[in-house]
Amino acid sequence: MTHHSLQQAFREYLAWWGFKHFSSDRDYFAWQRQQFSSEELKQLALHVERKRTGDCRDEIAFYDLAAQPKLYPVLYSQRYEYYEEIGVRTTAHLSQAKDVLDFGCGIGVLTIFYARLFPEKNFIGVDRSPASIVVARERADKLGLHNLRFECVDVEAEPLSGSYDLVVTTHALVQAEQDRGLPSRSWRTFERGRNLSQQRSFEERTGLAVRLDGLCRVMSSSGRIIVSEKTRQLARRVPLQRALANRGLQLAERPALIRYRTVEEVVDDGPFYVLGRGGEATLNWDEGPEQDQGPPFNPDAVSMSAGDVDMPLYENHWPSAQGAWEGLKDRQVIRETTRQAPDGRQVHAERGSSRGLHYLYCANTFDQRQLVIVEEARSAMLDEYYQEILRGLT
Ligand SMILES: C[S@@+](CC[C@H](N)C(=O)[O-])C[C@H]1O[C@@H](n2cnc3c(N)ncnc32)[C@H](O)[C@@H]1O
Repeated sequence: MTHHSLQQAFREYLAWWGFKHFSSDRDYFAWQRQQFSSEELKQLALHVERKRTGDCRDEIAFYDLAAQPKLYPVLYSQRYEYYEEIGVRTTAHLSQAKDVLDFGCGIGVLTIFYARLFPEKNFIGVDRSPASIVVARERADKLGLHNLRFECVDVEAEPLSGSYDLVVTTHALVQAEQDRGLPSRSWRTFERGRNLSQQRSFEERTGLAVRLDGLCRVMSSSGRIIVSEKTRQLARRVPLQRALANRGLQLAERPALIRYRTVEEVVDDGPFYVLGRGGEATLNWDEGPEQDQGPPFNPDAVSMSAGDVDMPLYENHWPSAQGAWEGLKDRQVIRETTRQAPDGRQVHAERGSSRGLHYLYCANTFDQRQLVIVEEARSAMLDEYYQEILRGLT
């Protein structure tokens, strides 16, 4: 099957679920308002908030509500491009497998697609939301699929059984979206120290340890696991990667950064990891920041770059600002502060000059960097900005 025909088949399949693809948020919300009463919208907002702040019972209650037949086509249409992105990518890895486990399968959108495409392979979808499993079973029955079953299991409460040569888990391992992850060793670096108790704490508070251990136990010795989470930020990516590596999982291919649109935002997600155990590890884990869109920096050409009088000579809000700051020639610090912010970040703010130009640099242990350079005549604006940063730290 070509990529194009697979994508086409996937779109027809999503339409069978009642999912719609929207390129305009306004159209999506107009459809949502037609479908849901204001009471339903209120209930939904309440459950979203409880899921955000509550415990696993609140999370299960949210997914149970989202699986109601009236709600799921509308709610999960928001994830249309996510399904497409993950579904098509994962399909490319299914041909070598025989027994496949989809952990945290939800209502089974992806699991059923895979099972229908590969009738000679066995699939099992596992989720702890009972209402989601009811929907998944009903939809699979409608298609008369005999190579697929769904089980309602909470992996944190009971062990999984069986042995699988492919385990797939997407958006189900690191469910704590608010968790900021592991800070870097200091504001000067993107590196994370090898602090075992910090790593353990991340794995425990996000539920990653128990879920991943459960999956590793049912993965056959030559099996593979596909993992894709909302762990694009370095502070979350590093502890996830270390959790995978610490369990003997190695990269079978270079991780892919993925991007798709949901309602109201473009999501930079992933990476999409394909991992195996054993064999020669040839690919190294990358713990550095991604290539970013910061403007290139040439310290000798900054003063000539003034085009617009309202714009700084140079401005970079990306991790690459660190390299630019390090490249400033004859850097003289005028004032600097390094503080622990109330949320635990270590923040460094620095006002300085470099060969007649003035700069403000700000860096923190969650990988944010900012460098602004102006001519001396406009340096007062940097002082104001510096004070504003300090006020934000108290
Ligand atoms: C964001 S949804 C993702 C669903 C599906 N993988 C997809 O991509 O459409 C996360 C799912 O993981 C399930 N889940 C989270 N923790 C679980 C656990 N400990 N045991 C079983 N399922 C779990 C949730 O119930 C939820 O359905």
